[in-house]
Order: sequence, then structure tokens, then C-alpha cells
Amino acid sequence: MVGTPTKPVDEHYGYCCHSCHFKKANALLCVDNTFASSFTKPLDLGADIIMHSATKYLGGHSDVIQGALMMNDAELREKLYFIQKSCGAVPGPMDCFLVLRGIKTLHVRMKQHCENGEKIAHWLRNNPKVGKVYWPGFEDNAGYAVAKKQMRGFGGMISFVLKDESIEAANKVLTGTHLFSLAESLGGVESLINHLTSMTHARIPVKNVLRTACRWINKTGVWVLKMLMT
Ligand SMILES: Cc1ncc(COP(=O)(O)O)c(C=O)c1O
Repeated sequence: MVGTPTKPVDEHYGYCCHSCHFKKANALLCVDNTFASSFTKPLDLGADIIMHSATKYLGGHSDVIQGALMMNDAELREKLYFIQKSCGAVPGPMDCFLVLRGIKTLHVRMKQHCENGEKIAHWLRNNPKVGKVYWPGFEDNAGYAVAKKQMRGFGGMISFVLKDESIEAANKVLTGTHLFSLAESLGGVESLINHLTSMTHARIPVKNVLRTACRWINKTGVWVLKMLMT
């Protein structure tokens, strides 16, 4: 299973290349497409299953928790549907209504996420207090060529590291934003900011966060801006 682009750092996996390896090994390639949302079409690029946290961009309003799997293979779908029914993991009608309603405005929201994301990513990069900024649309990003090939836009998810690695500096940013609320989610109409090592990745020791999730970040962690419609 792969997810691309990854957060907090932007790493990109070429689905076509992955899909060849998976096919050779007689394995299924499942893609978590939550971050790229409708801007990538992994099934057309060789993936077998797409997974979405519909909680995020598809729902778009931070008022539902739901997931979805998509595939082209009817036989595989029947197998997974049987497991879903047997386990009772069936979504409620109101949740389905909320996600279906959210999908109606997905294309407009994604366009705005991308426009806003581009502006803020460049603003951060030009800010003298900010160190590294991670956003898939930077041409000098190692995964840019793959991202450009696979994505129709670069989205509104940005991570950045402050030059001042102190927790005081981190807190100053967290408490100083006017439009961004401090919260763990993404893909809704709100603009959110999240501190990785004290929030989403708090249970992972910093050295492991560094080693596994984000090879390049400093000990203070990466700030993840989930940037939205504002
Ligand atoms: C990429 C990705 N996939 C899956 C999930 C899980 O989503 P949910 O909150 O709907 O369980 C998350 C949650 O943040 C996510 O970021």
C-alpha cells in the first residue's frame, strides 16, 4: 500500500512503476489517495484499489468520519463488500448524505485549495524565519517530475520547519495565526495548523519520527498547514 504525496515531507511514488513491481509479485497495489484527492487517478495509472479518508476532502466540511474504497474489478469488489457486510462496518445514512453532498463541491474546493496552497507555499519559502518548506509544486522538489505527471494540481497541504528549533518559537507560530485553527485534520473548508511532534505524531518518539516519517526534519517537528478556503 502506498500514499502519495506523503506528509509531512513530500515524497512521490510513481504508480506506473510500482504497479509493475506489484503485478510481478502477484500482489495488489492499494493507494491511499486522501491527500491528492480527485487530482490523481491511480486506477488509470495501474493501481488496483484506491482508499480515501472521506472524512477529509470528499466530505470537505469536517462533520463526518468515513472511508471509501474504489476499484474497477467487480470480483474484488464483491470480496471486499462481503467482508464489510460480515463485519458490520456499514456507514450510517446521514454520514453517506454528508459525503455525497461534499462531493458535489469537491472540484471547486480543490481548485481553491491549489490556488491558496501555491501562494502560501511561496510566501513561506520567502519568509526568513522559515527553513525548509515541503509542497509538491516546487520545481526543485525531488519528486516534482512524478507529482507533475500524476497530479492535476498540487493541493493545499504544506509542511514547514522553522529555523529556530525551540518549542517557544513553535508555540509562537501556533498561537499567532488568525486564519488557521490549531487542529488535527485536513481537507475541510477550515484552515488548520498542526504541530507534528506534539499532536499527530506525539506517540512516536521524536527520533523515530525523524527516522521513519520525515527524514529531514529537526527535533522540533514539522508544522503542517492544512490550508483551505479562507
Ligand atoms: C492520508 C490519510 N489516510 C487515512 C486517514 C484516516 O482517516 P480517518 O480520520 O477518516 O480515519 C488519515 C487521517 O488523517 C490520513 O491523513
